[in-house]
Amino acid sequence: MPYSGLITLEQFIVDQQSLYKDAGGSLSKIFRSLELAAKMVNRDVRKAGLVDILGNQGSTNVQGEEQKKLDVIANDIFIQALSRSGEVSVVLSEENDDAYFVPGAENEKYVVAIDPLDGSSNIDVNASIGTIFSIYRRPNPQRDASTEDCLQKGKHQVAAGYFIYGSSTMLVYTTGVGVNGFTLDDNIQEFCLSHPNIEIPEDGKIYSVNEGNLASFPEPYQQYLAYCKEKDKATFRPYSARYIGSLIADFHRNLLKGGVFLYPPTQSAPKGKLRLMYECNPMAFLVEQAGGAAHTGEERILQVAPSELHQRVPVIMGSKNMVQKVLEFVEQSSLTTANL
Ligand code: AHG
Ligand code: MN
Ligand code: MN
Repeated sequence: MPYSGLITLEQFIVDQQSLYKDAGGSLSKIFRSLELAAKMVNRDVRKAGLVDILGNQGSTNVQGEEQKKLDVIANDIFIQALSRSGEVSVVLSEENDDAYFVPGAENEKYVVAIDPLDGSSNIDVNASIGTIFSIYRRPNPQRDASTEDCLQKGKHQVAAGYFIYGSSTMLVYTTGVGVNGFTLDDNIQEFCLSHPNIEIPEDGKIYSVNEGNLASFPEPYQQYLAYCKEKDKATFRPYSARYIGSLIADFHRNLLKGGVFLYPPTQSAPKGKLRLMYECNPMAFLVEQAGGAAHTGEERILQVAPSELHQRVPVIMGSKNMVQKVLEFVEQSSLTTANL
C-alpha cells in the first residue's frame, strides 16, 4: 500500500519557515508545545472510557457552563506546555476567568488563545472533539504583558488551527499562507502531512445548525433554513442537514466537503453561543485562508473589535457562495427594517 506520511509536521514547518516572518523560530517552538500537548490529550481521550476521566468535574467555568473532567485536564496540559515554550507571555483560555500571565515571561512575543476541549458535550458519547488555538504577536514585547495585548482583532492572528480527536487525530492549521492538514500516525507518534493546501469548495450541499432552536432564530435565518429545504435541481436543494454539536467536527466536515455552519442569535443567547477569541476567530482565519468566508451577519468575523475575553458573536461560515446566500437573507431583512 502506498504510504503518504513522508513529511512530518516538524519538517514542514522548517521548510515553510521563510514564509512565516519568524526567523528566530519562535512560532515553531510554540507549535512544538501545541503538538506535544495535543498528543497528551489524544492519549487521554483514546482511553477515556477505561480510566476515571469521563463525566463532570463538578465545577462551572466563567460562562456558567458545566466543566467536564477532560475540559480541565486538557486546559492544564495546554497551559503548561505553552508556558514552557519560552515564547508565550499570555495564555487565554475558554476555561479560565482571566488571562493567564506566564510567570517570568512578561516580555515574550506571543499571546495564545485556546479552547482546550471543544465539543465537550460529546466526550461521554465518543463523538469527535478537539482543541482550537489562535496565536497573536504582542504589539510591544518591550512592555510587560497586559490585557491590552489580548483584545486584538482576529485579522491580526499570525497562526490558528485545531486538533481534532476523531476517527483519526488531525491537526489543521494556517499561518496565513493557505491551510494544511496533518494526520497523527499513532505508531510513530508524528503528525504527517495528509491534506496539503486545503481549499473549501465554493458551493456546498450541507447546512449545519442546531435547528432545535429554530423558533427563536431571527426571521431571516428561519427563511434561509426554509430555502435550504426547498426542492431545486439547479442548486442541488434540498440540502442535507449535518450537525454534530462539536464546532470542530462540523467545521472540519464542511471545510473538506463544502457547506455552511450557522450559530445565529437566539432569545436566550442574543449574541449566539460561540466565543470570538477561542472559536470564531481561529475558524474564520482558517476558512478564509481556505477560500471560504466567515461573517457575524453584520461584519467579517476577523474585523470584530473584541471588548472582552469571553465575548460571543453570531456565526455564519463556510463555502463562500453559501455564506453569501445567507447574508442576502440577513441584509435584505435589515434593508426592509431600515425602510420601515
Ligand atoms: P465547548 O464544548 O468548547 O463549550 O463548545 C461547544 C460549542 C461548539 O463546539 C458547538 O458548535 C456548540 O457548542 C454546540 O452548541 P449547541 O449544543 O447549542 O448546538
Ligand atoms: Mn468550544
Ligand atoms: Mn471548550
